[in-house]
Amino acid sequence: MLSLLFAYLICAGFAGHTHAQSVFAHVIVGNTYSYTLADWAHEIEVAANASIDGFALNIGYLDTINPAGFVQAQLNNAYTAADATNFKLFFSFDYAAQGAWDQNAVIKTINAYSSRPSQFKWEGKPLASTFEGPNNAGDWAYIKSQTNSFFAPDFSSQGCFGAAAKPNVDGLLSWNAWPAGANDMTDGDDQAHIKALGGRPFIMPVSPWFYTNLPQWSKNWLWRGDSLWHQRWEQVAQLQPSFVEILTWNDWSESHYVGPLPPMDSAIPTGAERYVKPNPHDAWLKDLPHYIARYQNETRPAESHVTFWYRLNPARSGSAGGTTCNNPAYQTPLAPQDCVADAVFFTAFVPDTAIATVKVTIGGTTQSVTASQPGIFHSSVPFGQIGNGTVSVSVSASDGTKIGPVGGAPITSNCAGGTVNWNAWVGGS
Ligand SMILES: *[C@@H]1O[C@H](CO)[C@@H](O)[C@H](O)[C@H]1NC(C)=O
Ligand SMILES: *[C@@H]1O[C@H](CO)[C@@H](O)[C@H](O)[C@H]1NC(C)=O
Ligand SMILES: *[C@@H]1O[C@H](CO)[C@@H](O)[C@H](O)[C@H]1NC(C)=O
Repeated sequence: MLSLLFAYLICAGFAGHTHAQSVFAHVIVGNTYSYTLADWAHEIEVAANASIDGFALNIGYLDTINPAGFVQAQLNNAYTAADATNFKLFFSFDYAAQGAWDQNAVIKTINAYSSRPSQFKWEGKPLASTFEGPNNAGDWAYIKSQTNSFFAPDFSSQGCFGAAAKPNVDGLLSWNAWPAGANDMTDGDDQAHIKALGGRPFIMPVSPWFYTNLPQWSKNWLWRGDSLWHQRWEQVAQLQPSFVEILTWNDWSESHYVGPLPPMDSAIPTGAERYVKPNPHDAWLKDLPHYIARYQNETRPAESHVTFWYRLNPARSGSAGGTTCNNPAYQTPLAPQDCVADAVFFTAFVPDTAIATVKVTIGGTTQSVTASQPGIFHSSVPFGQIGNGTVSVSVSASDGTKIGPVGGAPITSNCAGGTVNWNAWVGGS
């Protein structure tokens, strides 16, 4: 504890409010085109209330340089809203969405905002990240000379050792946040990143889910979510990476958002409405102060709650919609029904001294599970053989804590449009 305090004070002394073990969320600025300053201020407050320290602002090249486009206006809104708080921002230059960035456009963008109070700095330098762009790694010698930035890109296409060996890399973000096939995610690749970086900072990715079905972009696959949200935070607490980036705040079309559904439907990409609008995820945010306290070796909040999630349709209740488990562009495609579980997943956040019992009622049938050790309790109960019905969850713990019953959206075999919705519905107390 003492050494933690000491490290914290040293970092605080020279990097301002910011410190190692900050937690960021990845924001697709392209999905905020009709946001107002008030919308940004609200979402920053929601994120800050969940112990998130800042946003990585993902921006595509063409949208950002277009003087008539909306991105510049949204960057102004984001920085103006964040400047009024302790919340931090940095850029994630997307080299895949609209092609490689021109290095002078990168320099102009960083320098336009790097003196703003909300700019996240590491070792006194504005952090600059990317989504891909390994072939342009060489540009960053000049970019760094003109911006004094600390360069921590995501070059996951190169593998961790390839990415860490690229020139000008001061740290790395990994995009490898989801398991292949019918497996749980391990932290093997995160450990390999830490090794490959040899002491340079590692930004570990944490994501709750992945499902996308957008024929217009030839995207139609899922990766197993299930217990991913809980397991990854356990891995974060164990591995103690320099930073964490949540993938993502608002990428609606890939179903890995943790932010609240947007204030206007038009923010959701065409085709994704079917599996986004009925599926709020922001109940997951309530878990973050607990997980982040464990990551930062601080005392968990005294607050108790339960969070639970599941798909609204049994896996075999309708057409799979052509969705494969795994990305067929580079992985073996599998039947999604064979990768993901028909189950209600839950996490009960009770005091560290209390043993939780969780009761899950689905369509009138109750299943009860008791934790084998005290504290945060994550598990699941199957719904496959139960079929249809409304869901409710309640918790009682050995110290007298009682939560719920809390209702959830009904599970139905009557899939909207005949197609299974592979996204999660998330709720809680
Ligand atoms: C937090 O605690 C873990 C396990 O007790 C320890 O390995 C780690 O070094 C601690 N982190 C800090 C920053 O003190
Ligand atoms: C953030 O937390 C504060 C303090 O608990 C609360 O008053 C406020 O309503 C919260 N804001 C949002 C947007 O949830
Ligand atoms: C589930 O309910 C729907 C109506 O909402 C019905 O069409 C379907 O047959 C039911 N399936 C099962 C397995 O009970």
